[in-house]
Amino acid sequence: MGKDFASMEDSNRCANPSIHELSDPARRQWLRGGLGATVGSLLAPLAHGVQPATDEAPPGPPPPPLLGFTAVPVSSADAVRVPEGYTAQPLAPWGDPVGLPGRMPAFNPDAGNTGAEQEAQFGMHHDGLHYFALEGSRRGLLVINHEYVDPGLLFPDGMRSWTADKLRKAQAAHGVGVAEIALRADGQWALVRPSRYARRITGATPMQVQGPAAGHALLKTEADPTGRRVLGTLGNCAAERTPWGTYLTGEENWIYLFAATEDPDAHQQRWGLRKGVAARWHEFDARFNATRHPHEPNRFGWIVEIDPYDPTSTPVKRSALGRAAHEGATVAMTRDGRAVVYMGEDARSEYIYKFVSRDRMQPGGAKANATLLDHGTLYVARFEADGRGRWLPLVQGQGPLTAARGFADLGEVLVKSRQASDALGATKMDRPEWVAVDPRTREVYCALTNNRNRGRPGEPAVDAANPRANNTMGHIIRWTEDGDFDGDTFAWHHFVLAGDPANERPQARGNVKGDAFACPDGLWIDPRGVLWIDTDMSSSVMGTGEAARLGNNAMLAADPRSGEVRRFLTGPVGCELAGASMTPDGSTLFVSIQHPGETPSEISDPDQPMRFSRWPDGGRPRSAVVAIRRRDGGLVGT
Ligand code: FEO
Ligand code: CA
Ligand code: CA
Repeated sequence: MGKDFASMEDSNRCANPSIHELSDPARRQWLRGGLGATVGSLLAPLAHGVQPATDEAPPGPPPPPLLGFTAVPVSSADAVRVPEGYTAQPLAPWGDPVGLPGRMPAFNPDAGNTGAEQEAQFGMHHDGLHYFALEGSRRGLLVINHEYVDPGLLFPDGMRSWTADKLRKAQAAHGVGVAEIALRADGQWALVRPSRYARRITGATPMQVQGPAAGHALLKTEADPTGRRVLGTLGNCAAERTPWGTYLTGEENWIYLFAATEDPDAHQQRWGLRKGVAARWHEFDARFNATRHPHEPNRFGWIVEIDPYDPTSTPVKRSALGRAAHEGATVAMTRDGRAVVYMGEDARSEYIYKFVSRDRMQPGGAKANATLLDHGTLYVARFEADGRGRWLPLVQGQGPLTAARGFADLGEVLVKSRQASDALGATKMDRPEWVAVDPRTREVYCALTNNRNRGRPGEPAVDAANPRANNTMGHIIRWTEDGDFDGDTFAWHHFVLAGDPANERPQARGNVKGDAFACPDGLWIDPRGVLWIDTDMSSSVMGTGEAARLGNNAMLAADPRSGEVRRFLTGPVGCELAGASMTPDGSTLFVSIQHPGETPSEISDPDQPMRFSRWPDGGRPRSAVVAIRRRDGGLVGT
């Protein structure tokens, strides 16, 4: 998501094998496949455990270079540009029906669809996504986060009027979409509609809270005295697939949807609530009045786990993973089968977390692991100046996390993860976004997208991990745990400082080897080991002029060994790139194009909805997924 919601944080002071399942022999098979290699090699059942790259490769030709495509140039065109030999097909745009049986309302190009119709259509502002195989790489489920809405595009008259149905539509345009897709003989993907898997999870869908904060007094409301049943998920940003086959989505920017009619208390202020009304949801849904219902905001900011294969399943907010403006959650597995979940909190000067499960993953998929993320220990990262780091446990009764300091029990520690991390002295980071884990090298990456407040009076000073004042360009940090992924300590360094090397301000220049970029956001490591980087230069950053030469936002591919970065895709005007997922055979890469045509205020003029962009179909700009393939069917990126 772009700048304004981060600015609100500012006021706060701020069945395909996934990458985690790929064993090294499978990787070698893929690497040796080279150009044109497809399918099969990666579809064999693979161990879930993440193994170090220790075994010897059998004799054969050396693997081709990781990056095998010709970079695309910087672009300011209102189009998706991909390398020569590739195609990019828009898919699943906002407003198209997801395929609910008997409910497939067509998109109304003037945004005149009702709230009920929106509940059966793809939501707005696509973000993290993942492909879940049904039949290998030919048929699967595309699961997509819908992060937030632009009322100027969502409604014909923008916010000039406000009704109960407009609120219903706004809530329905948030959340998650599940759609069935199939690859046709001509190499194009098509939605399978209707589909028994199709589903919309929205800002009003019933979900359950599990883990230590479930039923806690801080989660109880007038409408839910149990503190265990929440309506909706909001601000859905990054996405990942767990090794046991479920989908994790992070709730990021939800606080601005709450109104405060009186001055918020200290807890609410720490979470960014300010007196006033940013959205008008409380007028038709009283729970969004945080003065009247002060615990309702405590029910957002969690990681939500969804079983996309079971459309009747209830999404679960996993409270053991802590509460944050969660970008997302990425799972690594310890050698003995415990889940380690890495999470960034995308807000200026907030934190990086990891959760270590108590129990081991069990065979049997989602149902066999229904409580795996409910028991364990949450940690927050402290980066020391000497390149070392420590994971500080958020355990009630330890160190400063006592009742006397306002942490009566573990539930309160988790609801107040920010305050707990403050008390522990964790490192305040430059907007931690996606985390990616390379299972072969066991390196962990986190994108720190930018932080213009760094070094300002009253704000955190520069430190070793966040070394640039007025960090408009962002950086990517990389660390390796001591021992296994559950290690208490780690060694870190910067993978790259982003920025145009031609910038006049030395602190914005960066040290990119290859194609310059700024504001890394999405990170994902594909099964060959390529680090994919999505950029989100919001207009607040581009407005500085420091990013002007970088054109539209882009997706880049990086070789983690050499550090080379190569521009793979440029997006249409005003968009950011979000997410990445591949079919198991590596022949299709899916990525979200979020908010094409975004205006500097992030709210479009309803009288000029197409002022900046007409992507993807010549009309009102619509967020969508693009499916990227090589014309010869070969591996994407080679
Ligand atoms: Fe939703 Fe941090 O981008
Ligand atoms: Ca973003
Ligand atoms: Ca993001």
